[in-house]
Amino acid sequence: MKDEPQTRRQFCTRTCAAAALAALGTAFAGALESSCGGGGSPTSPGGGSLSSLPQVTGTASGSASIAVNVDGTALASTGTPVLVRSSRGDVLAVRTGASTFNALSSQCTHAACEITAFSGQSFVCPCHGSQFDASGKVLGGPAPSPLRQYTTQFANGVLTISA
Ligand code: FES
Repeated sequence: MKDEPQTRRQFCTRTCAAAALAALGTAFAGALESSCGGGGSPTSPGGGSLSSLPQVTGTASGSASIAVNVDGTALASTGTPVLVRSSRGDVLAVRTGASTFNALSSQCTHAACEITAFSGQSFVCPCHGSQFDASGKVLGGPAPSPLRQYTTQFANGVLTISA
């Protein structure tokens, strides 16, 4: 048998199909690597290094609030993401100004893992790498929705977080 010469159209069709398959393979490999952490040292999906959130102790206050003495903790400085631990549950918090704070649910909106890490000023879920900004907005999936925000009040060095 003799090979038939390819037309220019047949050559392009076959070449493009092969290129598309190769691109798909690369995309799946990338997705698997990012969802499984790639087996290397912990990094955020954006490539920055992950750190455990500094922890601050809060105490139950009133009927449904958490009070945090801010002085001497990581919440004393602006922009440092923190995990507040209390008997009422854990809450993410960050100081955004002299007397303003954001407080967020620490439960990831993807599969309910507790968010315990950060990279730069972003909260990072350790399970599948979702990233959230200081207001809880999703910066990177797979989380489908923002973190729940709580009400904050600040007076006399005490941050009060209410559901
Ligand atoms: S539980 Fe999957 S990214 Fe948080």
